[in-house]
Amino acid sequence: MGTIKAALLGFGTVGQGVYEAVRSHRQQLKARLGAEVEIVAVLIKNPYKKRDVGRSVLVTTDFEEILAIPGLEVVFEAIVGEEPGFSYCMKAIEKGCHVITANKVMFAKYGEILLEHAKAHGVYVGYEATTAGGVPVIRTIAHQLQVNDIQRVQAILNGTSNFILTEMREKHLPFEEALAIAQQHGYAEADPGNDIEGKDAFCKLMILSRLVFGGQPDWKEVEVEGINALTLADVEKAEKKGLRYKHIADVYRYGDTLKASVKPVLVPPEHALYAIEGVNNAVTIYGSLIGKITLAGPGAGKFPTASAMIEDLAGGYRRIPQMNAI
Ligand code: NDP
Ligand code: HSE
Repeated sequence: MGTIKAALLGFGTVGQGVYEAVRSHRQQLKARLGAEVEIVAVLIKNPYKKRDVGRSVLVTTDFEEILAIPGLEVVFEAIVGEEPGFSYCMKAIEKGCHVITANKVMFAKYGEILLEHAKAHGVYVGYEATTAGGVPVIRTIAHQLQVNDIQRVQAILNGTSNFILTEMREKHLPFEEALAIAQQHGYAEADPGNDIEGKDAFCKLMILSRLVFGGQPDWKEVEVEGINALTLADVEKAEKKGLRYKHIADVYRYGDTLKASVKPVLVPPEHALYAIEGVNNAVTIYGSLIGKITLAGPGAGKFPTASAMIEDLAGGYRRIPQMNAI
């Protein structure tokens, strides 16, 4: 029984979660994979921050040093933005590594290229963590909804926004205070503008769109609005009417094209997304056979995201390429 050598790109909320989860779930991973998983290297940006890792772990700012590790098999990518994440993932694939990413900004744009590249090199790309945090929506759609004709997907895809709206409604906190709590929990991005202006949910919706419909709507045509213009008074007024604001990402077939929007919507209690509260995300899928289903759960945070990445490893590894969620 050997060891699977893995590297972590990024050691923030998500990277640290994966590091700890690999250690705390060592036995479960071993039982599943038939080998120990060992994090042998961590890529970071700031060499002066103290990192809580074992002494044998290589901590570096140089990705080439990581690629040069003999026998490296898996790269977990949890850094921020399109680049250098995309280039690093491409290089890791070329080296024959399986790649598991949480980086939705990068994957929304380059997912298709990465998956094709992975296919050509016979490796696995897992991207469950890019969308809806710990909720296993990618592999559920890819592997359990292959025959259903899906007409529409409506979802809450930004944990920070849903958390803020819930705090405002339940605790009557002003927007800024609720955002600060979301940041303390590690839900919000380093630049929370992506969360509260709707860009984060947009990227996740585009990832879902490609998976469900095999394509994306024209990005320029998608109406994207965040929750940042909503005030406590708006939220309280809605509550008095028995309604709630939910930040809803919606994509559906419209003739031969796809239409999509990402914006705050007032919903009544009978709406499938009305009761989704706090940091939770939910994805409602309208299928021709199954009807309407909603998958819901923690949409952000250290361990829910680590869960998605570790499960990707357990589910995809050594069953390539048929496990790729193309
Ligand atoms: P953090 O900001 O907490 O951590 C980012 C990490 O990436 C840091 O360790 C940082 O290094 C490192 N990093 C950033 N840029 C570079 C670079 N150019 N080269 C090397 N390392 C770099 O982010 P999160 O952990 O919250 O998020 C990571 C990724 O996962 C993002 O793409 C995010 O969108 C996604 N994600 C986040 C979730 C969450 O709940 N937080 C959930 C799902 C996905 P240093 O430590 O030196 O600053
Ligand atoms: N900032 C993101 C959110 C993290 O709040 O949903 C999970 O992708």
